[in-house]
Amino acid sequence: MPEIILKNLTKTFGSVNAVDNLDLTIEDRDFVTLLGPSGCGKTTTLRMISGLETPTAGEISIGGRVVFSSEKQINLSPDKRDVGLLFQNYALWPHMTVLQNIAFGLENMKWSKEEIRKRVKEMGDLVKISDLLDRYPSELSGGQQQRVAIARTLAPNPKVLLMDEPLSNLDAKLRMEMRAELKRLHREIESTVVYVTHDQLEAMTLATKVCLLEEGVLQQFAPPLVIYDQPANVFVGDFIGNPSMNFFDAKVDRVEGEMIVLRTSELRLEMLLMKKDYEVKSGDEVIIGLRPEDIELKPYIGENTCTIYSTLPSGMETVVRAKIKNTMFSIVVFGRVDFVVDSVMEISFPSSNYLLFNKETKEKIGAGSLKLT
Ligand SMILES: Nc1ncnc2c1ncn2[C@@H]1O[C@H](COP(=O)(O)OP(=O)(O)OP(=O)(O)O)[C@@H](O)[C@H]1O
Ligand SMILES: [Mg+2]
Repeated sequence: MPEIILKNLTKTFGSVNAVDNLDLTIEDRDFVTLLGPSGCGKTTTLRMISGLETPTAGEISIGGRVVFSSEKQINLSPDKRDVGLLFQNYALWPHMTVLQNIAFGLENMKWSKEEIRKRVKEMGDLVKISDLLDRYPSELSGGQQQRVAIARTLAPNPKVLLMDEPLSNLDAKLRMEMRAELKRLHREIESTVVYVTHDQLEAMTLATKVCLLEEGVLQQFAPPLVIYDQPANVFVGDFIGNPSMNFFDAKVDRVEGEMIVLRTSELRLEMLLMKKDYEVKSGDEVIIGLRPEDIELKPYIGENTCTIYSTLPSGMETVVRAKIKNTMFSIVVFGRVDFVVDSVMEISFPSSNYLLFNKETKEKIGAGSLKLT
C-alpha cells in the first residue's frame, strides 16, 4: 500500500533549515496538501519524496519500502520510487501530438502497442480530452494542456502522485474547475497524492489532510475542518481563513472551574471553556481568537452595542467591520445583506468555538463560548 512515511526529515541549504525534522505519515489514498507561506519548505519536501532532492538527514519510505535513509545509506533514484510527478511548468513536448505525449512514457517502459492504445483511451476519457488526441500542444488552451499533462502523469499508473502547484498557471475560473476534476480523479485512480500549494483555499478544498508548514517546521497536520476549527496555534488560526480570525490580547482575571474571566484593554469577557488542552490560571496572558462568521449583528436593543465602521457586500456575503469603543471586529454576514455605516447595532457571540491561545507559546489552550460582561 502506498503509504508515505517521513521520519525526522531535514534539509539544510547552507545556514537555512528548509525542512526541519519533519515527521509525517501520509496514509494510503490520502490527498495531502502541503501548505504554507513562500519559502516554508513545501517544494523541498516534495522534491525529497520524489528523489530529486537529497535530504540532509532522516528517512523516507513509500509503500513499506525505504527509499531514502541517511542512517542506512539508502537513496533510490526517482525512477525507482514509482511516483508520478507534475510540476507548475508541465512542459508538453511541442513536436508530439497529445496521443504521443501521453504514450511516450509508456513506450519507454516497454508497454505493448495494444496496452498503450487502451491506456491512452482510458486517460483521454478520464480527463476528457478524447477528441483532442491528434492535436499538437500549441493547438490547445491552457486548461486542455494542463489536462494532457495530468493524463501523461497518470498514464503509467503511479501509486503515488506528487504535484507542485499544478494549477497556478490557470485563470481563476479554470483553476476552480480543475480542482473539482482533480478531486474527482483522486476518487477514481486510488493513488496517494501529495499536492503543494500556497493557496489556502485550494489546500483546504482538495485535501483529506492539510500539512501546514512554517519555516520548515510542521505546524499542524489534520483534516481541513479540524485545521479550521481547532488550529493548533496562533499561526495556523491566522493563516487559514479569509477574512482572517479576530485576535485580541487579554489577561486572565479569574478562573472558576471552566469559567474564565478575561480582560482586554477595553473589554471584560467571560469564556466557558468546553474543550481544554492546557490549564489556565489568573494572571496568565492569553490571546482570544474569533472567526468572523461566528460573530452576529442584530438590530439595536441597547445591550451589547457596536458601531458599524465599514461594509463590503459581495452578494453572497458581507464583510463588516464594527467597533465596540476602539476594539474593531471583523464580521462576515452571509446572504444578500448590507448595513448602514455609523449605525449602532447589537453584537453577539452565538458560537461555542471561540479560541484561547497562550500568548507566550502561541499554542491553543482551548475553545468555548464567550460573552461580554
Ligand atoms: N537549491 C537551493 N539552494 C539554497 N536554498 C534553497 C534551495 N532550494 C530552496 N532553498 C531555500 O529553502 C527554503 C525552502 O524553499 P522551498 O522552495 O521549499 O519553499 P516553498 O515552500 O516551495 O516556497 P514557494 O511557495 O515560494 O514555492 C527557502 O528559504 C529557499 O530559499
Ligand atoms: Mg515551491
